[in-house]
Amino acid sequence: MAIPSSGSREIWGSQFGFVLAAAGSAIGLGNIWRFSYLAYENGGGAFLIPYLSALFIVAIPLVIMEFGIGHERIGSAPLAFARIRKRWEWLGWWAVIFVMFGIVLYYCVIISWCLNYLFYSVTLAWGNDPNTFFFQKFLNLSDGPGTVGTIQVPILVGLLVIWLLNWMIVYRGIRGGIELANKIFMPLLFVLMTVLVFWSLTLEGAGTGLRAYLVPDFSALARPKVWIDAFGQIFFSVSLGFGILIAYASYLPRNKANLTRNAVVMALMNSGFSIFAGLAVFSLLGYMAVQTQSPIEGVVTQSIGLAFVAYPKAISLLPGGAVFGVLFFASLVVAGLSSSISILEAFTSAIMDKFSLDRRWVVTTISVIGLLGGLVFTTQGGLFWLDIVDHFLTLYGLVVVGLLEALLVGWLFQIEILRKHINTVSSLHLGAWWSWLIRFVIPMVLIVLLGWSLKEELRPYADYSWSALLGIGGLWLLITILAALVFTWQPWKRPLDAPTQES
Ligand code: ALA
Repeated sequence: MAIPSSGSREIWGSQFGFVLAAAGSAIGLGNIWRFSYLAYENGGGAFLIPYLSALFIVAIPLVIMEFGIGHERIGSAPLAFARIRKRWEWLGWWAVIFVMFGIVLYYCVIISWCLNYLFYSVTLAWGNDPNTFFFQKFLNLSDGPGTVGTIQVPILVGLLVIWLLNWMIVYRGIRGGIELANKIFMPLLFVLMTVLVFWSLTLEGAGTGLRAYLVPDFSALARPKVWIDAFGQIFFSVSLGFGILIAYASYLPRNKANLTRNAVVMALMNSGFSIFAGLAVFSLLGYMAVQTQSPIEGVVTQSIGLAFVAYPKAISLLPGGAVFGVLFFASLVVAGLSSSISILEAFTSAIMDKFSLDRRWVVTTISVIGLLGGLVFTTQGGLFWLDIVDHFLTLYGLVVVGLLEALLVGWLFQIEILRKHINTVSSLHLGAWWSWLIRFVIPMVLIVLLGWSLKEELRPYADYSWSALLGIGGLWLLITILAALVFTWQPWKRPLDAPTQES
């Protein structure tokens, strides 16, 4: 098939802008508190072994592949996959659909929590019982996923603000919207995080926290869950399997696109940021352990509790805590927004590619749908729904997309065409080892991982009932697959393979 011309496709202002936007997509809520908590729970410093293996063996080669597909086939995920094999268009749709009508719906609700907590920090509104404040006052949690209850107004208001910002940025397009926003968000985020890390490191007890975070417990490596968590985290964190990296690379100019170098820089920035942010999270928890004279295990709670319960508690103890709280939650909001806009873009570009619709119309429509779709997560039962949907979509969505795209490119396409293209435009050249990783190693690793996860699934996740797990998580997955098929069956409003060849 001839390589199509990028024609009138939008284009990044610079490669630097592209790397910042890709890093902005990767660095998100997942880096600041999810990574730290997972590292702590899964053997501290030893977690870095599966995490870094996942990064180098699976994530970086797959990021290069996603960049390569988007750039070489010049399209969002559905268009790029259709240009590889028409029958595989559905995979592109599935990725952008379950991410747009699943992950980003609850992701924006969590950003809304952070926005609310940014304001609560000013007066330390959680008082001396952040646990009761979070679960009973703020979330007004129901007794289980079966009781949805009413919408919580402060969360809804925050959600409206977040969707308004998402809409304003993506509406303005690649260069004037997403690139510009990331040129503001990313430096701001690095400054905020640097202040937080250095502030935390000076606190009494920081060493206790850092030991809990980083001292390795190698026995943890024998537990499959540690490996599952590390791989799941890396997919979520690097924005793999979202369709985002494919769409972002499709906006690179034909001849100025250092794909391998950009992939490595972006992935290392992302993991470096996670490890760095963990220093702030654990130093502060160490401080709290010393202040309250409790063991560190007593102050580290489960992942959601870490940001909204343990952290506020520590902030209250800290002189100048209100400022610390504002900076911490502001960093979460900024990190979250730079990721949510990338998800919106992955779906927007897919719709624009297939139906030749106007960006502004598409973004406005899906922002309204996104806001309405997120309402269920703003209710009293929202936290349970969020937990279940996140569990299913991260593992059985992102990882399955990663596996299938590796199989597609490795076995149903001449992978050497892609490698040659990537090498032509990149400064770091890929050897045959890359094709070998994509064809054999990555599929094998991901199949073992999914097998282990399915086995773990026999014990219901987090003790939810089977009806809740299948009725919410399972059904959500199924509906997104059906929706992907419906989109696939619609006719293309543009020729699939444009005849011109540029490079
Ligand atoms: N990659 C984004 C995150 O880590 C989605 O939050």
